Formats: sequence, structure tokens, C-alpha cells
Amino acid sequence: MGDNTIIRFDGVSKRYEDGTVVLENIEFEVERGKFYTLLGPSGCGKTTILRMIAGFTEPTGGSIYFNGQVINKVPANKRQVNTVFQDYALFPHLNVFENVAFGLRIKKMKKDAVTAKVKEALQFVNLEGYEQRSISEMSGGQKQRVAIARALVNEPEVLLLDEPLSALDLKLRTEMQYELREIQQRLGITFIFVTHDQEEALAMSDEIFVMNKGKIEQSGTPNDIYDEPINRFVADFIGESNIVPGRMIEDFLVEFNGKRFHCVDQGLRDNESIEVVIRPEDLELTTVEKGKLKVRVDTQLFRGVHYEISCYDDSGHEWLVHSTRKADPGSEIGLDFEPEAIHVMRFGESEEDFDRRLEGYEEGGVYAG
Ligand SMILES: Nc1ncnc2c1ncn2[C@@H]1O[C@H](COP(=O)(O)OP(=O)(O)OP(=O)(O)O)[C@@H](O)[C@H]1O
Ligand SMILES: [Mg+2]
Repeated sequence: MGDNTIIRFDGVSKRYEDGTVVLENIEFEVERGKFYTLLGPSGCGKTTILRMIAGFTEPTGGSIYFNGQVINKVPANKRQVNTVFQDYALFPHLNVFENVAFGLRIKKMKKDAVTAKVKEALQFVNLEGYEQRSISEMSGGQKQRVAIARALVNEPEVLLLDEPLSALDLKLRTEMQYELREIQQRLGITFIFVTHDQEEALAMSDEIFVMNKGKIEQSGTPNDIYDEPINRFVADFIGESNIVPGRMIEDFLVEFNGKRFHCVDQGLRDNESIEVVIRPEDLELTTVEKGKLKVRVDTQLFRGVHYEISCYDDSGHEWLVHSTRKADPGSEIGLDFEPEAIHVMRFGESEEDFDRRLEGYEEGGVYAG
């Protein structure tokens, strides 16, 4: 465990009395001062992990370390952690000042010190002058910032944020994404953020843990996870993907759709069955003659910055293309792509084996990702 590690989950699991297993052998490390995101569909166990870090839920197996000490049994109020909940959980009968001051009053801090700390926290989230407002007079985004100020005023080492932006409209949500990221960088404390929105996770995080059914499927930087998804679940969950079955003929040569293509993948068994991922933005429209794949255009949707074009090949596989060019529904066209656009996924590969394979590419100097 490195010096910079603040939290470590070592084989953590959670089984409820009714027998449901909601977390299974969770392993990860969190470093000081970084922005982490737990990303996954509803019910995969994201909130349960946050509750364990905060001290509201105890694991039924494994150990949670905080600054090198096992904290499984440390009560919530003794942890250097604060949580911003999805519904903010602000006190509606208190004004903004008193909401933020709450934790300090409980600690019996002197009045002057409370005033100074609350002022500082409100400045931090750009809410100076709002001290006397009642919570009901604040907008969604402002409430969100009060909730952050209320957590920050306690000077936690780690701030946990459980889907704090999900109640906001798209525009405000994007603004708050920037703001949160900026606050985290300015403060230099560790944020652990929960969302089921992959774009949000990609935009904000230093590192993402992609979760599914109580397990971490893959962890890595947004680029790692987007460019080299470890399996179908991650590829599908992180952005739209074309995923087709194929066969690895040999290093750098893959077969799918009945044809062979050069790729940059290596380290798999010759003739191994694999799945191939190609991102819609890596496909280019061209003529049937020039295309590596021949498809028929089915539908075309304008998505604001690009067209989303759905096509089918002869064997009935759908291919999604994102392009700034149009294609006529019903027409036959070709799709072109670079060898680097092909991402090969092995069935049932562990994260360790996958990482080792990627390192192999980098050392070999052929990995272009
Ligand atoms: N007290 C409990 N007893 C039994 N099962 C529980 C209990 N609390 C939570 N669960 C189950 O644990 C699983 C994980 O729940 P959790 O709240 O961690 O999911 P989540 O990833 O945060 O989902 P969402 O995105 O919907 O908030 C769910 O299937 C939930 O039903
Ligand atoms: Mg949740």
C-alpha cells in the first residue's frame, strides 16, 4: 500500500440477513487528493460502498482501511469523512447559515469560529450573501452547493457524493460538474462520487470503478476505460458500442464478419474466440467499394453535433455510426476504420490478466491507444 493511499478495500463483501449478497470481494485503493467515481447501473452496490466508507453499514467480510488502520467498527462520527446525499438532506426549517453551521455547533465550536468557518465555506461554493435565505428559497443547484458547504465546513479528508447532480436539469448539471471538479482540485481532498451516468463519470474523474451486480468490473482512468474496455458490460455501459463476435487469427490479425482485419491487439491465443468492439465515432462512411464492411443504412438521427446512423450488415448485425455526414436510409454504403479502432476483448478475462496484456502492448511499442 503506497504512502498516498487513504482508503483501501480488502476483500470486502456484504450479505444481508435475508441472504442477498450485494457486494462480493471488493478490492480497491483510493489515493489522497484524487477524484474517484463509482459508476454502475441501479442496484449494483454503489451506495452500499459509500455507506461503508462513511460508517453507516458494516461489511460482513473483509477489511476497510483508512490511513492504514482497519475501520470496520469505527463509528461514523469518528471518521474523517462527510457525505453529500442525493436529496441533499438539508434542514428545511433552518436558513443557509444554520444548515452549514450545523456540524460545527454539534462540535460545540465557539461562535466567532463558527461564523468565520461558515463564511469561508459559503465563499468556496460561491454563495456569499445567501446566509439568511431559507432553504425553500434556494434553487436546486444552490441547494446542492449548500449541501457541499455543509460537508466541507467539517474539513473532511474524504468527501462522499451520492448522485448529487441527478435532480438537476442537463445544463445546470454540466455547470455543476465543472464546479465540483474545480472545488475538488482547489481543496486537494479526496472525492468519491457516485453516478450511473457514464458521461458524467468520464468528464469528472481521475479514476473510475465500473461496477456491475456487486462487483467491480474494471477500474482505470476515463481514457483507459473508454479506449480499452475489458468486457462487453463495460464496453456497452461506457458509451455506445458496436460489439461483434470474432476470432483472433494470430497477433495483429482478427476475423469478424467473415473477413480478416489488421489490428493492434496481441497476446491472445491463436484462433481464440473473442469479441470485437468498434466505437461509433471510429467508423467512417465511404462507398461500398472502398469500405471494409458493407452495410445498408436503416435510420438516421441528428444528435446535435453528429448524425447517429444505424446500419445492418448482411448477417443482420447492427452497426452504429456517428458522423458529421449524412447517409440515406435504404442505401448501401461502406464502412471504413483504422486498425487502432478495433478493440479485442477476451471472454472472462480478469482485470489483472488484462492489465498485463496491455502492458505487453506498450512495451512492444505497437500499442497505439
Ligand atoms: N437492508 C437491506 N436488505 C437487503 N438488501 C438490501 C438492503 N439495502 C440495500 N439492499 C440491496 O442492495 C443492493 C445494492 O443497493 P445500493 O443502494 O448499494 O445500490 P446502488 O448501486 O446505490 O443503486 P442506485 O443507483 O439505484 O442508487 C440492491 O439490490 C438493494 O436492494
Ligand atoms: Mg444508490
